[in-house]
Amino acid sequence: MIFYFSGTGNSRYAARLIGKKTGDRVVSINEVIKNGRKERFHSEKPLIVVCPVYAWKIPRIVEKFMRETTFSGNKNTYFILTCGDSTGGAWYFARKTCLEIGLNFMGAKSIVMPENYIALFKVPDKAQADTIIKKAVPGILSAAEQIKNDKPLPIEKKALLGRLVSPLVSAFFYRLIISAKGFYATDACTGCGKCAELCTLNNLTLQGGRPLWGTNCTHCMACICGCPFEAIEYKNKTKGKPRYYCIEETD
Ligand SMILES: Cc1cc2nc3c(=O)[nH]c(=O)nc-3n(C[C@H](O)[C@H](O)[C@H](O)COP(=O)(O)O)c2cc1C
Repeated sequence: MIFYFSGTGNSRYAARLIGKKTGDRVVSINEVIKNGRKERFHSEKPLIVVCPVYAWKIPRIVEKFMRETTFSGNKNTYFILTCGDSTGGAWYFARKTCLEIGLNFMGAKSIVMPENYIALFKVPDKAQADTIIKKAVPGILSAAEQIKNDKPLPIEKKALLGRLVSPLVSAFFYRLIISAKGFYATDACTGCGKCAELCTLNNLTLQGGRPLWGTNCTHCMACICGCPFEAIEYKNKTKGKPRYYCIEETD
């Protein structure tokens, strides 16, 4: 069974591609969280978790989901980590989470996809993003093949140092960077509500036809990048930047 969490579509894209290759059921962690359901999942096939890397770790929201969910059946668990360029020690924390909740870690593969962190960095335009995605496909498919054959995914050697630094990067990041405070809607906002629909944590409500952000934000970038009118900005960091949202079909 394949579980994915995705802010701007990269991990959903990878999860669906793997689903096509393996024939496994694909489950959206976003939907489970948004609907506030506590679920039990049973699968005779391995678990495959596809998610972005946040500050060199798996996102806290994914870790929390895994800790609060009951998985029965096959306990072998693989991670596919989509990232902008580097995953640090994310694999190590994926393994640690598995060990602590009784799952059998079978390895993690990082896949470079388009950068989506528009609040801090430049994100690619459509043509650049298409090229990056095209390059990522063989890696996703080869991981799917290995998983289908019950083979472990090897640990990437360069990630060993990241294991030591990742906790510091992540702690700093969640404490000082992640906040919904900087988001605002411009005059281009039509009050369509897409941002609220896309917010996994239900942190956005429409008040008088305008989006209002609460305090429960994980900086997934879905609201700002998924706005059809590019009517959301973040502090003074995003004006004039292209928005990135993966809407590629997998076939
Ligand atoms: C809050 C946040 C933190 C991120 N941290 C990292 C990181 O540490 N390393 C990296 O290579 N990419 C990082 N990225 C980029 C994403 O991991 C990458 O673009 C990912 O494919 C997005 O997946 P999604 O579209 O499924 O949300 C970060 C993005 C966000 C929004």
